[in-house]
Amino acid sequence: MSDYETVKLEKRGSVAVLIINRPDKLNSLNSKVHTEGVAVLDQLRRDETVRVLVITGAGEKSFIAGADISEFAGQTSVSQRNVFLEKTLFNSIDNFPKPVIAMINGFCLGGGCELALACDIRTASEKARFGQPEINLGIIPGGGGTQRLTRLIGEGKAMEMILTGDMIDAQTAFTLGLVNNVFSPEELETKTFELADKIAEKSPIALQMAKEAVKIASRSNLDEGLRREIDLFAVCFSSEDKEEGVAAFLEKRKPVFKGR
Ligand code: COA
Repeated sequence: MSDYETVKLEKRGSVAVLIINRPDKLNSLNSKVHTEGVAVLDQLRRDETVRVLVITGAGEKSFIAGADISEFAGQTSVSQRNVFLEKTLFNSIDNFPKPVIAMINGFCLGGGCELALACDIRTASEKARFGQPEINLGIIPGGGGTQRLTRLIGEGKAMEMILTGDMIDAQTAFTLGLVNNVFSPEELETKTFELADKIAEKSPIALQMAKEAVKIASRSNLDEGLRREIDLFAVCFSSEDKEEGVAAFLEKRKPVFKGR
């Protein structure tokens, strides 16, 4: 379905799947992955038939084993800063208006962990391994790791992962709240798509407003967050989907949401 070199795009009903496709390099993120991934997300954000996005890595071994380290060689501080200030996949995911699920099938390291953190929900295989090993290269996370990991699992545990660079297993990641669910490798896909399909049945407008409102919680103070929640709640009242949801409840039937 796509002509990309480093990513693949598939569609299963109203769920799109973005596969990072460099298995021989453990799906590490080079600049082409960022460019192609951003292009795919731009396409999907306009595609009304797509209601949920799942992101995963090609092959059995790795989700994403970090930034492509070979691209760091020779970069200066200014050039590397500009790379990360440009349109990255991290930012495109963060700004994507539809729900995004990271389906973590293996190594989830460095930029891979940061990419998963930019997603809304994370499901993981029991075989997945997580870490922010940048410290071992004499650098620190630059794709949001110090900020999003800390907000998600707290300062102490984020500090330990980032300062040691050690990997943790999927069960530990679950205990820390880094992933929402852990499944056997055989079940990962089925369970993740069950979750994606369940979300895809909801009103796309309500999903977008809900996402925006929840994200505000870790980015503003309580008074501002509560005020903005009311505005986003009110936006839902301008939708046909709200009328459909209310009518379906009163008529004791399943709603059919159209995203209008
Ligand atoms: N950047 C570039 N290439 C990478 C990579 C990365 N982040 N991670 C893995 N690769 C490449 C390896 O160089 C190797 O390529 P080669 O076959 O051409 O030599 C290939 O992917 C397979 O990796 P390999 O190291 O042989 O697999 P392994 O099972 O022995 O080890 C890891 C797996 C994940 C532990 C190891 O690859 C690793 O530590 N990767 C780097 C992780 C990292 O530091 N990420 C943060 C970057 S900021």
